[in-house]
Amino acid sequence: MPKITFIDVDGTSYEATVDAGLSLMEAAINVGVPGVLAICGGSCACSTCHAYIDDAWATVVGGPNDIEDATLDLANDRRSGSRLTCQVAVTAAMDGLVVHVAKND
Ligand code: FES
Repeated sequence: MPKITFIDVDGTSYEATVDAGLSLMEAAINVGVPGVLAICGGSCACSTCHAYIDDAWATVVGGPNDIEDATLDLANDRRSGSRLTCQVAVTAAMDGLVVHVAKND
């Protein structure tokens, strides 16, 4: 199973071993990462699961579709690596991925 590291806004790391198919949002919540509020429960409507994917992983993770792109416009401090973690399904290729949680409030 892929291992994923989440880093919260204070710089604290959280390691997660994740079943492929779960979303990054579910993986973060399962290990208690602060700041992944996920208020809409993963329906791509709130942007409170916003995080940043390092450029080195951009090809593996991919970019947002049109619906996610529109919801990302609601997020705080959107950047080039922004993704809504509820919209990223974990794959085996993501082993070693580092995800920086955005300031979601
Ligand atoms: Fe609401 Fe991801 S949980 S957009």
